[in-house]
Amino acid sequence: MTNRTVLALGSLLPAEMEQLEAQYNVIKLWREVDPDRTLHTHAAQIQGIVSTYNGPGVSAKLMEALPNLEVIAQFGVGVDNIDLGVAQTRQIAVSNTPDLLTDDTADTALSLLLAVSRRIVEGDMYVRTGNWANGPLPLGSSLSGKVVGVVGLGRIGQAIARRCAAFNMMVVYHGPREKLDQPYRYYSDLVEMARDVDYLVLACVGGEGTRHLVSRSVLEAMGQKSFLINIARGSVVDELALVEMLVNRRIGGAGLDVFAHEPHVPDELKSMDNVVLTPHIGSATLETRAKMGQLVIDNLAAHFDGRSLLTPVV
Ligand code: 8YV
Repeated sequence: MTNRTVLALGSLLPAEMEQLEAQYNVIKLWREVDPDRTLHTHAAQIQGIVSTYNGPGVSAKLMEALPNLEVIAQFGVGVDNIDLGVAQTRQIAVSNTPDLLTDDTADTALSLLLAVSRRIVEGDMYVRTGNWANGPLPLGSSLSGKVVGVVGLGRIGQAIARRCAAFNMMVVYHGPREKLDQPYRYYSDLVEMARDVDYLVLACVGGEGTRHLVSRSVLEAMGQKSFLINIARGSVVDELALVEMLVNRRIGGAGLDVFAHEPHVPDELKSMDNVVLTPHIGSATLETRAKMGQLVIDNLAAHFDGRSLLTPVV
């Protein structure tokens, strides 16, 4: 146990949390009755933060309150909950947990894609409620031969593309720039791509740069037969427009793992049979969450031992 203090804004799995607590004096902010007071009392001792996407976020205000903060270790690949500009100016090191969650997150995208196309959740309800006795479930749609447009062909986007190709789908993509090492057709214009695809799968980063990238015009371009799958961030989609388009049946359906204001999910979506909803479970497997926790611990250790971060963001 060092005498260093680490502020945890969310929890790792129990085994990794135990490890963290064996090494540091850990303040578990979510357990504090008066978090502001706790922060104020321990501000000068806090040298590291463990942050999670579903926690309160690492704002400029929080960093300003911690004069000796040196490192932020994010439990996740996305870092849109951290004010990276301030971290950079203050030379606060930031790490994340890329790669080891790629496969699970891509699997989540495919689970949603299959579930909405083949009416899996609706079918499950159909059996459980005894409706099957009244006749068959309405038909679903094939994946084979369809066109899937991936938005953001990074590590997770590429893993999704490989899976879709294995399902005999034709893959195209949109992103800030063409990737010449990728075999898929590139669209620089998202509206144009939306017009040509049967599925639009979002796998891009969140944050200001991609806010409402999937605008009303993009959704309109998709049309009545197309499905939207989002395992990226709720902020990437104009959620009000999406709900309106789904209510009016102007797009075919959606598989959504992320939302604009989690854990809030618009009520309209909850009663729609062409929508499948999951509670931000992209990386949520025991195996992956354990590896992510270990990487958080290893990044903190690297920093405090004076070594380079294993997976640095800035
Ligand atoms: C979160 C995620 O890390 O990796 C990401 O960017 O969105 C998730 O895997 C997870 O919800 C824990 O905060």
